[in-house]
Amino acid sequence: KAMNVLLIWVCGLATSAVLAKQTFHGDKVFRVKLQTEEHVALIHKMKEKIKLDFWHPDTADRMVPHMDADFRVNSDQAHSVSILLEQFSVPYEVLFHDLQEGIDAQLDNKKIQKSKGHSYTKYNTWEKIVEWTGNLAKKYPNLVKKVDIGKTVEGRPMYVLQVGNANSATKAIFMDCGIHAREWISPAFCQWFVKELIKGKNNIRELVKSLTFYILPVFNIDGYVWTWTEDRMWRKNRSPSDDGNCVGTDLNRNFNISWCDIGSSTEPCSEIYCGATAESEIEAKNVANFIRSHVDSIKAYISIHSYSQMLLYPFSYTYNLAPDHKELDEIAKGAVSELKGLYGTSYTYGPSASTIYPTAGSSDDWAYSVGIKYSFTFELRDKGKKGFLLPQSQIKATCQESTLAVAYIAKYVLAHS
Ligand code: ARG
Ligand code: ZN
Repeated sequence: KAMNVLLIWVCGLATSAVLAKQTFHGDKVFRVKLQTEEHVALIHKMKEKIKLDFWHPDTADRMVPHMDADFRVNSDQAHSVSILLEQFSVPYEVLFHDLQEGIDAQLDNKKIQKSKGHSYTKYNTWEKIVEWTGNLAKKYPNLVKKVDIGKTVEGRPMYVLQVGNANSATKAIFMDCGIHAREWISPAFCQWFVKELIKGKNNIRELVKSLTFYILPVFNIDGYVWTWTEDRMWRKNRSPSDDGNCVGTDLNRNFNISWCDIGSSTEPCSEIYCGATAESEIEAKNVANFIRSHVDSIKAYISIHSYSQMLLYPFSYTYNLAPDHKELDEIAKGAVSELKGLYGTSYTYGPSASTIYPTAGSSDDWAYSVGIKYSFTFELRDKGKKGFLLPQSQIKATCQESTLAVAYIAKYVLAHS
């Protein structure tokens, strides 16, 4: 008996950090409608005392009057937050009264949920995605190849799917999903899009005759696994910081373009930590190396995030307009109008810095800087009602409409590059 107690105690020590999957009972997500500088200042004051998980924008530093801001608060502090907001007359609504309910409600198409295997209308675990990748390459050897681009910090292999049967890869499009772990609709979209290229309608399937697609279904694999096993709200990768106190770098702040400047943080515990150096993160380095070695053929770079319903293009790190601003704006306009044509979903579009918020060290600006003119970032559904917890029942429509936008960009690139 004593031995058992001792064993339990020792095991408890070893695993105490990862003992139980985190739950979010009673956690709330607020949407505050900031109207004055005072309101903004209140948020800054609050975040010093209370842990706020910023959903949109991704940091309090980006908040300005006349902006909506979404953030999560732990259950034990939710009441104080609402009292403070009321005292300072900040209008707000509660997007989630109980976040755990939202997490559970995500997997809402029960019938499909019960099926064990990979599904395009489900959020798939990393294991299921690996299996799917292997099966596709086996089933369509002439159309789909797995390209090993290196390993994650926890040692998981990163595969880019090369889709296409163009004789020589003279024109290619690179697309990644899942830079941020909790944005589950993003990897779902990459999987869907691969399916469309293989067995979709003619006008999409024929793209692979003249274009090569390089698709990275999950960029931040370790983080994605972490959102399934430990913390659904995780954003960054899983590399420990040098001082050992915090885990994770924001991979979309780690690229070598105005690195660690505006919209990033040097603080390892921050959600927008830029890392020790540009490309300090192996996942970002692997992707950058792959793109560098194919830079002559890659004509477009597309990065998929959620949420906000936006189509963004450079610059992010400055408010200056990109040299190709006019052309990129025209393309974005066309793409969102295609998207809207299907179910009426409206997207805003424009340069990242002014349309969403400025960020340095982001992949789209970096791709643009190495000569990939057609560089875009999507923020998929929704506009915050469900946010990162977009229900599975919306995967299909979200992916269908977004496919139209990506296909629009692909066709444009084919005709103009
Ligand atoms: N939501 C994403 C992020 O916080 C993208 C923000 C816009 N920046 C960009 N480079 N597209 O990283
Ligand atoms: Zn993101």
